[in-house]
Amino acid sequence: MAALVLFGGGGDLAMRMLLPSLYFLEYDGLLPEGLKIIGAARSDESRDDYVARVRAAVEGKARADDAWTDEAWARLDARLDYLPVDATDPASLKPLKDRVGDGGVTSFLAVSPSLYGRIVTALKAAGLAEATDRVVLEKPVGRDLQSFLQIDDAVAHAFSEDQVFRIDHYLGKETVQNLIALRFGNTIFEPLWNSLSIDHVQITVGETVGVGDRWPYYDEYGALRDMLQNHMLQLLCLVAMEPPSDLDPDSVRNEKVKVIRSLRPITEHEAERVTVRGQYVAGTSEGKPAKAYSEERGQASDTETFVAVRVDIDNWRWAGTPFFLRTGKRLAEKRTEIVIQFKPVPHSIFDHGERGHIAANRLVIELQPEEDIALSVMNKKPGLDQRMQLQPIQMSLSWGQGDKGAKPPRRRIAYERLLLDALAGDSTLFVRRDEAEQAWKWVDEVSDAWRGAAFKPKQYAAGTWGPQEADLLLERGGRAWNTGHG
Ligand code: BG6
Repeated sequence: MAALVLFGGGGDLAMRMLLPSLYFLEYDGLLPEGLKIIGAARSDESRDDYVARVRAAVEGKARADDAWTDEAWARLDARLDYLPVDATDPASLKPLKDRVGDGGVTSFLAVSPSLYGRIVTALKAAGLAEATDRVVLEKPVGRDLQSFLQIDDAVAHAFSEDQVFRIDHYLGKETVQNLIALRFGNTIFEPLWNSLSIDHVQITVGETVGVGDRWPYYDEYGALRDMLQNHMLQLLCLVAMEPPSDLDPDSVRNEKVKVIRSLRPITEHEAERVTVRGQYVAGTSEGKPAKAYSEERGQASDTETFVAVRVDIDNWRWAGTPFFLRTGKRLAEKRTEIVIQFKPVPHSIFDHGERGHIAANRLVIELQPEEDIALSVMNKKPGLDQRMQLQPIQMSLSWGQGDKGAKPPRRRIAYERLLLDALAGDSTLFVRRDEAEQAWKWVDEVSDAWRGAAFKPKQYAAGTWGPQEADLLLERGGRAWNTGHG
């Protein structure tokens, strides 16, 4: 690959995530030799000014991670360039084409998705969609199935599917990949990984931040489209999929798409029983007063900032084992975790009552704030009590256990992995067209059901775990959200 072009190279995503990730890759010596990195955006900025801005965006993060060296920066600096372009105009892309030559270009579209269609068409016309070129698309691609297909048809017109890299940055997270290792690199979990042994699965993506200035985007999307359609369904797929025959991109993605196809549609009639919509009102978040969403928005809105849903997967492996998903802004904690709740032992041979209580095994895969995997198992309390007493202990299966003294993975490693894979042409951790299509189809059904049932968001105070209906969703089946933190 000769060049990586960051369209929207001066924007928020590029400065906050992409360029710092590229610096870290440079620091680790992982960027392909000779790769040029070109920021391309509308503003008429000089190369020097652009590079100075990149340095300001990168240096603090790198120093905080103890990873700043002048040599690494000098190497990145030497790769960097900037070109003012109108990416929707093939004529304006001509100088870019001349600059990058013919060695293969990866175009990363870090711009508003409303421009995707026009940009890919212009890339094709400018000769930047040749067989050796690739395009990387950030979410959200579309707002529903119809708009997704519209954009994606334009993409398919310019690039073949193996040249298209749809990013879901959750797939770049270290622990998400570790889930694949845990499931398919061990024999002990897979025989139990089904409805015979697993009571239910919980996936929580809790955020303490509010929507704030992002409301013009967020108000159109809401938690269902911003988080559930992509990140959460991707996590669900990795938990629920059948073992792929190998790690080839299509082997993995074939299995994921089968899961999405098996999701039970949520009907208007069922919406109230299996879904919860919420919106935060004023409260206290991380010790500070927090405004209501409607106040940030400037007027009342029906957009949900919280969603919880019971998902049933209609296939042999999972029939009878519900998956509970919840996500929201301004929740009590920033916490992302997958909880595999095993069934209780069929019969207790220990004393009844507190002393002999047996907590069912639970596997907690924590993605944020820490990256950790913990299995709770019952153990004998040491001592000479006549009657054996039990206690739950946590076995940590986290990466650190295998490599004592290793540094924890970096915060934004998600983009490092994904940039590296896109540059290498490996699409295993990217979303294929039919996956995105099926996910939108399911999400559209949820949103239609909400509309049909005139289902308004329930209020919850900022700094809590969402509306109490989200607790009832589990309590109805005698279950509860994990509060144990591993
Ligand atoms: C983005 C959403 O895709 O993911 C944001 O648009 C959300 O609303 C973010 O805050 C969460 O990412 P992470 O990696 O911080 O969990």
